[in-house]
Amino acid sequence: MSGGNPTMAPCDVERCAAAGCIPTLCVGAGLASNDEVFERSCAAIPGGVNSSIRAFSSVGGRPYAVARAEGAHVIDVEGTRYIDLVQSYGAVILGHAHPAITAAVAGAAVDGTSYGAPTPREMRLAETIAGAVPSCDQVRFMNSGTEATSTAVRLARGATGRDRVVIFHGNFHGATDALLAAGGSGVATLGLPGTAGVPAGAVAETLVVPYNQVPELTDEVAAVMVEPVAANMGVIPPAPGFLDGLRAECDRVGAVLIFDEVITGFRLGRGGAQATFDVTPDLTTFGKVIGGGLPIGAVGGRRDLMEQLTPLGTVFHAGTLAGNPIATAAGLAALDLLTPDVYIELMARARHLSAVLRDACDAAGFAASFPVVGTLVGMVTGDVPRPVDFAGATRTDEAAYARFFHAMLAEGVAMAPGAYEAIFVGLGHTDDVLDRIGEAAHRAAATAVAATG
Ligand SMILES: Cc1ncc(COP(=O)(O)O)c(C=O)c1O
Repeated sequence: MSGGNPTMAPCDVERCAAAGCIPTLCVGAGLASNDEVFERSCAAIPGGVNSSIRAFSSVGGRPYAVARAEGAHVIDVEGTRYIDLVQSYGAVILGHAHPAITAAVAGAAVDGTSYGAPTPREMRLAETIAGAVPSCDQVRFMNSGTEATSTAVRLARGATGRDRVVIFHGNFHGATDALLAAGGSGVATLGLPGTAGVPAGAVAETLVVPYNQVPELTDEVAAVMVEPVAANMGVIPPAPGFLDGLRAECDRVGAVLIFDEVITGFRLGRGGAQATFDVTPDLTTFGKVIGGGLPIGAVGGRRDLMEQLTPLGTVFHAGTLAGNPIATAAGLAALDLLTPDVYIELMARARHLSAVLRDACDAAGFAASFPVVGTLVGMVTGDVPRPVDFAGATRTDEAAYARFFHAMLAEGVAMAPGAYEAIFVGLGHTDDVLDRIGEAAHRAAATAVAATG
């Protein structure tokens, strides 16, 4: 990857030795370039990536390979340092390698990495979440947001004795067969697999409806699952009355309302989107922030529903690494620091970032807008109206995003390699870092305009 500010070696031998690092396992050891890592990864890993969104398929080019990260920055194997706006797609909120997290991880690791028995840490993390999030009397942990959404759907189906699940076009709930259903634009669609490998039967009871419109439900519906702020098609707030309307409609037919707060949980605030918008779902799914950057997922909800999970109830759930001691230690450390004041600060930073990006694009004549919902920032590229649903979101000019993305990367700012991802601001993004992003964006926007064919 060209450009950036090569200021730091990817592998600092003295620092690594002091940390007791094993040289042959060192991330940067013996690796000359991003290209070498990518080519060897492509030979060993399909597409060279372990999550498809990390590939540069939609922006072109090859991904940089991260050797390490600190605060607002990632450093690739060539030593190029980027201001990072990906932040592990929202899993990292304190900034990379925050001392509280590294201490918690190191401290937990010496006690053993997994036991197959209950632990006080998972108890405390469940208590912390239940104490902060309105819908959660109880919490059950797993290892990813995907596991959380699939468990929540199974729980809702088991609890209601119904099969049908309603989801919203453009919302993303992870790689769960039943939730990988394709939606047509505008109209409700039932049972179209969203990807090869999902059998028609897996989505035959999944109804996909437009975001920000309250669907009329029938008493066949087990659950409505929604991103209370849509953050996988840009960042789209719920329309006034949308979440309340879902609550009322679920109550009317006896369906379970599930908020997928894998992104918004402990990111919009300690109570998540449900506290922000004052609508309480029956179940909530979590991931990302609650693990402090380590693998985690969770389902929380009303006691009578949660107790239908095994061993008390009949809806099966289990996981070898569920409630993992290191992930729960990191999660506790993160949630401990995320006080209400921190969210006020993060909201100010989100507004600051949106403003510097908007000013830069306006000055260069590069058409883009940067919606802010609380601490979340989105980017809509092109001269298009602010989207309220998937049909609007897909009017985004993806080619223009790709030009801006590469120009920003060359200026030393790493955005997500996809036009529909949120921009994640964290505690690492101090005001001077945000101003540097603004300066980079001025040059990048001009470059992107000049590159328009
Ligand atoms: C709203 C939402 N739900 C669920 C998931 C899946 O989480 P994970 O990637 O941890 O499986 C994601 C992932 O980005 C997400 O954004």
